[in-house]
Amino acid sequence: MMGDSSNKDRQTEADYREGQDIQKQHSITAREKEEPISGTHPVSLALFLLCALILLFGGAYYGQMTGGFDFTKYTAVGYVPAPDPRLGGKTVVKPWSVEQMDLGKKVYVSCGGCHKSGGEGDAGQNIPPLANSEWVTGSTERLAMIILNGVKGPIEVHGKVWSGNNMASQASAVPDAERLAAVMNYVRKSFGNETDDWVSEEMAQAAMDISAERAGAQMTAEELNANHDKMLPGAAVDPQTGQPLGAAPAAEEAPAA
Ligand code: HEC
Repeated sequence: MMGDSSNKDRQTEADYREGQDIQKQHSITAREKEEPISGTHPVSLALFLLCALILLFGGAYYGQMTGGFDFTKYTAVGYVPAPDPRLGGKTVVKPWSVEQMDLGKKVYVSCGGCHKSGGEGDAGQNIPPLANSEWVTGSTERLAMIILNGVKGPIEVHGKVWSGNNMASQASAVPDAERLAAVMNYVRKSFGNETDDWVSEEMAQAAMDISAERAGAQMTAEELNANHDKMLPGAAVDPQTGQPLGAAPAAEEAPAA
């Protein structure tokens, strides 16, 4: 019995030791890294789809948020570009003439309710057209007086006499010389109207001074023709800069005595 038991003990001990060895062996193999193998493996479908989704959403977001790559939309509020030496130290983003037409179009919205967006007028409401009208393309002082004071009584456009309606002073639509000049330039160069000259802010201010005496009393066609059929005083301007033509650039204006 004793022998048996000690034999068994030894056996167990051997098993145990053997067990330990196997564990040791296993842990050794488990520590080993996998054998590297060379070759090409397809990217997993999930990763491929994830990338496709990111590109899709990224592209859509980019397209939505970039404002069509328009320079003016990237310009931060208050951004002032560096002075352009070719313009005598002035900073100009858009040509003055383009800004005039943009602003004039905005001001014209209040005229467009009556004269319509294409300047065709509204015969049903007895509103004469501005397209191809001598009152628009003719003398600038007369046009300014029409806008600032309004018109009443019969007025002839395209050989047709309009008399069924009248136009109130539009002075509130043009509260400053800048906007008066802009809307005048807009109507004189839209709807097929073609004029070469530009109404400057200086000219528009002169018109405001002339009409100030009238305090917005509506004018008749006879009055307009008799007293205001002339061009507004002021120097012609360069459509690029809005500055008087031929004037020396600001930087060279004051030579040191
Ligand atoms: C409420 C309607 C109304 C608005 C707004 C209006 N007008 Fe008039 N306009 C008239 C009417 C009506 C006449 C003709 C008046 C008459 O028969 O005596 C007229 C005449 C004129 C004329 C002379 C005739 C012609 O057709 O060339 C000019 C120029 C003119 N308007 C420009 C303008 C401009 C520019 C604006 C905006 C700043 C403006 N009007 C806003 C109704 C309007």
